[in-house]
Amino acid sequence: MNSIQIAGAKQEFVDQGVGQVLLLVHGFPLDHSQWNPQVDELANHIRVLAPDLRGFGRSELGPDPLTLRRIADDLAQLLDKLQIEKVTYCGLSMGGYIGWQFWKHHRDRLERLIACDTRAAADLETMARARRVSAGIVRQQGTEPVAEQMIPKLFQPENLQHRSAEVESVRQVICASHPETLAQAQLAMAERPDATNWLPEIEMPTLFVVGAHDQITTPREMRENADQVRGAQFVEIPNSGHMPPLENPDEFNRAVMSFIAQT
Ligand code: MLT
Repeated sequence: MNSIQIAGAKQEFVDQGVGQVLLLVHGFPLDHSQWNPQVDELANHIRVLAPDLRGFGRSELGPDPLTLRRIADDLAQLLDKLQIEKVTYCGLSMGGYIGWQFWKHHRDRLERLIACDTRAAADLETMARARRVSAGIVRQQGTEPVAEQMIPKLFQPENLQHRSAEVESVRQVICASHPETLAQAQLAMAERPDATNWLPEIEMPTLFVVGAHDQITTPREMRENADQVRGAQFVEIPNSGHMPPLENPDEFNRAVMSFIAQT
């Protein structure tokens, strides 16, 4: 892991390979390790950056409340510090919500956009309320209830057995997270703006990729989002729920590399 100071907090990231840059932005409540199969394979062909977002993994939370805009700004500052002009941005779920912010505020840094298992819409009020409750629970009870609640939703049911090593490693990441980060990230996601109206304005090669059995951000909803972006590609990854980078890394890596090669 590499380490850098951004806006008063230590931020850690993986930086491997040479050439054009793929920035991999993890979901909630995970860290850079959700991209291990991508770093291992894709860094043989291109340069791969996989940060632990502010407060997650080994990165510090810092003094200010977490917002998705703050994290998008952190990523732009990381690129400044590494003197990287442009990237292919690839964000999964919460990483995708941050991706809309990155497009809105730092689009000059984008060569391509990859939205994985995510959505453009804001939370419905019921969901936002559930996140506020969950923020209170994680502050009081810690991270284990979050792991118990989320794991069955993240993976396709068969993969809870077939991919037990990956499931166990995700469980350990969630349990080792800072409760305050998870609470603040839930509140930040509850307050995120609706990006649906931004989709027709996106003018760059864009790929939407989703696990065929994703129950959090369904293929149907992602296809509707893809239909709003001119020329966007849409790929469904078989044998996968919400976590195609871990559940079916071969197909996921193929989809990403073929999109980068074609565009
Ligand atoms: C994620 O995987 O980042 C979360 O499921 C996003 C969310 O809670 O909306």
